Amino acid sequence: MHVKPNKDVHLCSRKSIPLDNLNNATPEGIFNSSTMNSVRTKMLNGECVAGCEKCYHEEKVNKGQSLRTFMNNWFDQLLNHNNVLPWKEGFLDRAINLDTNWEDVFAHTTPSIKWVALHASNVCNLACRGCYSLLSTKWRKDEEQLGINPYPLQNAKLHEFGFNFDDIDFVTMYGGEPFYMKQNNELTNTIESDPNIKNKILQYFTNGMILPSAQTFAIWRRIRQLQLIISIDSYDTENDYFRHGSKWSVLEKNLQLYIKESLNYNYELRISTLINIYNVNNLDVLHNWLVGQGIPEKNIDYNLCIYPQELDIRNLPQDYKDKVMSNYTNISLPDDLTNMILEHIQLEPNIDFIAAGAFSNKLDEIRNQTNPIPELKLYMDNS
Ligand SMILES: C[S@@+](CC[C@H](N)C(=O)[O-])C[C@H]1O[C@@H](n2cnc3c(N)ncnc32)[C@H](O)[C@@H]1O
Ligand code: SF4
Repeated sequence: MHVKPNKDVHLCSRKSIPLDNLNNATPEGIFNSSTMNSVRTKMLNGECVAGCEKCYHEEKVNKGQSLRTFMNNWFDQLLNHNNVLPWKEGFLDRAINLDTNWEDVFAHTTPSIKWVALHASNVCNLACRGCYSLLSTKWRKDEEQLGINPYPLQNAKLHEFGFNFDDIDFVTMYGGEPFYMKQNNELTNTIESDPNIKNKILQYFTNGMILPSAQTFAIWRRIRQLQLIISIDSYDTENDYFRHGSKWSVLEKNLQLYIKESLNYNYELRISTLINIYNVNNLDVLHNWLVGQGIPEKNIDYNLCIYPQELDIRNLPQDYKDKVMSNYTNISLPDDLTNMILEHIQLEPNIDFIAAGAFSNKLDEIRNQTNPIPELKLYMDNS
């Protein structure tokens, strides 16, 4: 179950129609609702489920592989083979090994909630350019200045979501920023006193600017597996520009600490990078720096920014696209990443670059920032 800060419950992290809201129903009520049962039946029968179109499209163009099939495989390994596979958002190159007959599994088990992915609040210390106030309170002021009506603060206590965390072995904490919000300390308290702690898998997405409490570090050493995913979108000052409020020297120090901890306590440390108009022409700088810090290449997950459209590389001007494409013949990045970028950048724009430039320049003005990519700024100013 994927829960947004406003307690809307979705089937997964991808944009989809909410199943319900936890203000109106309990997690178990939603999980056992006729809507969920109909999703299960349709999935088992190979019928399409509304809202899952992005995965079906991926399966068509990627030999049957999508987030959906990746999840089926990951949970097959966990639930039927007692095996925690590494996590990977850039899942499309993962071999699928679906040897489980889920109809049989469902015939012999009562479905119960196995994984909760929780945006427990929208409280965040940053206002990254790709984000918005549904997920970051720091965006609220800027949205008002942009003439957008911001989402309200969402800050319910963890127990108010209604989950029984003693029975759920896998919890993902998104945000807002998990290590800035009070809900993570509540989760730590819950897990700390759980007799089943050694079976827990915890996953966090963090901006890396704030370290968790000593108590959280301590429970991480007692659980079955920790997956820590740090979001970094560019190198140094360009990262600070995009991830507004971030400070590279702090991030760098925290990353080194996490690398040390991950080696000492065997947790999975990953980096998540959002490919966007600002970083597409110098991703190699960040990539090589991360590898130099000791992050294995396979632990760097790249995702294309599709929303907001102003940041989508398909909307760059053709001249700039040509420069990026020519640059990619010289720089050395993993083949699958290069192919993904070159394929996406050649798509037809879905908004005019004028809109991207106007959005970027207005935000610079509001935030008193200067676009650190002069070549891109030139296009923005002249479009
Ligand atoms: C919303 S953040 C919450 C967790 C934490 N604050 C962080 O930044 O990692 C979760 C993930 O969404 C990513 N993200 C932000 N804006 C996005 C966008 N427009 N499209 C896709 N992913 C985005 C972030 O980079 C991060 O990896
Ligand atoms: S740190 Fe995460 S939640 Fe906060 S603004 Fe950035 S992407 Fe959004």
